[in-house]
Amino acid sequence: MQSKIEKLKSEMLAELQKADKHDIVRDIEVKYLGRNGVFNDIMKSLKDLPDDQKKTVGKLANETKTGLELAVQQKYAELEMAMLGQIAEKEWMDVTVPGIKPLKGHRHLIPKFIEDLEAIFSKMGFAVASGPDIEMEHYNFNQLNIPPDHPARDMQDTFWVKNLKDTVLRTQTSPVQVRYMEAHEPPVRIISLGKTFRKDSDATHSPMFHQCEGLMVGEDISMANLKAVMTHALQQIFEDPSIKTRFRISYFPFVEPGMEVDCTCPICHGEGKIDNVPCRLCKQCGWLEIAGAGMVHPKVLENAGYDSEKYTGFAFGMGLDRMVMIKYRINNLRLFFENDLRFIQQF
Ligand code: DAH
Repeated sequence: MQSKIEKLKSEMLAELQKADKHDIVRDIEVKYLGRNGVFNDIMKSLKDLPDDQKKTVGKLANETKTGLELAVQQKYAELEMAMLGQIAEKEWMDVTVPGIKPLKGHRHLIPKFIEDLEAIFSKMGFAVASGPDIEMEHYNFNQLNIPPDHPARDMQDTFWVKNLKDTVLRTQTSPVQVRYMEAHEPPVRIISLGKTFRKDSDATHSPMFHQCEGLMVGEDISMANLKAVMTHALQQIFEDPSIKTRFRISYFPFVEPGMEVDCTCPICHGEGKIDNVPCRLCKQCGWLEIAGAGMVHPKVLENAGYDSEKYTGFAFGMGLDRMVMIKYRINNLRLFFENDLRFIQQF
């Protein structure tokens, strides 16, 4: 019996020695030391031994079993250490490698441009005013010298608000001029940027678009002031001090005289071509139509309660989206509103 125990012991130790996986050690443990394992068979057979051997063999069996249990635990620990060593070898990392920046949100191109414009005009002393997107016909048309039967109403494909009498989605930011003058005494120097709406939709028109309105009223305000303000603002907007402006006569009911403001093309700098290649933005003409403007019509001043004999002023209105398209070389207006991240993340 004793030699049998010794034999089992060395067999088990030899198997343990070769075992290189946790599962294999587990199998050995079960086979020798488990409830139905070989050592338990030995324990059970102790009772058949003659009395004088029972004690010594029993002791030997017990001690051997305890020793083997220890060996199994050591083997587990050994394998664990080896595994950690391997992980440390394979899965090391270089803590000095620069990290990957987490994705952060940022301002959309249009609100960002609005902020930039507000900053540019603030530096020239303009305050920022605002008005409602859903506007009364009274402010959107009547007070701006566009009476109900005036043909200019046809120029604006208006969205009328159902069930709200005489109410529209404002077709222009010009009503803010009237609202502001009604609430403030001259002198006035404001800009107002925001959403405007017209029934229009193609690559360069969207039913919702943005305008920037400007108004300056006081004593002795002239077209020279308009010219200076527009020129400086456009130079700042396009970050190009060589930009020039020109006025062409035009018509808007709320100004007299009324005009279109052009600026030299910020891409070809008024040349109409770049390295002899025709400029596509300005269609070789060297100028871009950028704003409507004029001297505020005396009737509009009077509608707001201003003395048109004492005060004069200029006003202008420009399409914002088109300016952003020019500045960032974007060829389709809809990209602004489709919220495709591949587009938005570029700016
Ligand atoms: N409101 C005009 C439009 O939407 C633009 C405009 C023209 C605004 C002349 C003005 C102005 O203030 O003086 O087409």
